[in-house]
Amino acid sequence: MTAAEYIPPEASIKELREAAQACRGCSLWEHATQAVFGEGPVPAPIMLVGEQPGDQEDKLGSPFVGPAGRVLDEALEEIGWNRDQVYLSNVVKHFKWTAKGKRRIHQRPRSVEINACFPWLREEIARVEPDVLLCLGATGAQALLGRNFKVTQQRGGLVESDLAPHVLATVHPSSVLRSRDDEARRLAKKAFVKDLKIATSYARRG
Ligand code: URA
Ligand code: SF4
Repeated sequence: MTAAEYIPPEASIKELREAAQACRGCSLWEHATQAVFGEGPVPAPIMLVGEQPGDQEDKLGSPFVGPAGRVLDEALEEIGWNRDQVYLSNVVKHFKWTAKGKRRIHQRPRSVEINACFPWLREEIARVEPDVLLCLGATGAQALLGRNFKVTQQRGGLVESDLAPHVLATVHPSSVLRSRDDEARRLAKKAFVKDLKIATSYARRG
């Protein structure tokens, strides 16, 4: 089972977004509020691909609108870009979580779920035609660049890939939030901003 059978032929990005709401390509839709499809200009100079929607994204229906999204917004602002100029998406479109008391804790998607969901991302990439594809975090990077990809070692470097003219990866913005103290957070943020700057340097300006 994959998302492929839910994809309408020759659909526009808007039609794809609507169709994703009815996707049953894996079981993740069962416990999620809605599918969170990518958002941003089409075409776009740069496309950022995270892991999956989080708690806030699941409720609001847009990618990167929670704490990780704030880190991303601040980092983009530091290099003179803003989120309206980039297409934001995720390798998996439904929030996978487990209950911990009243909280919904993010759970890593499994490779069957990532593979099942990939047809949506493939369609998005074909519509967005980004100059630069930047994977955010190990899950996205390994899904798109291969299981042996090591974000910590290969971050910020161009990777050979036919997904886009320039393809690279960096850490997930939520990892900045998990830093152990303020100084570690400052350094993690700085390194994240540096990778974003490298990525945008390959993009035509949106
Ligand atoms: N983390 C992600 O990977 N994607 C989102 O959209 C939000 C948080
Ligand atoms: Fe479909 Fe992806 Fe949601 Fe699974 S996670 S149901 S493949 S949209």
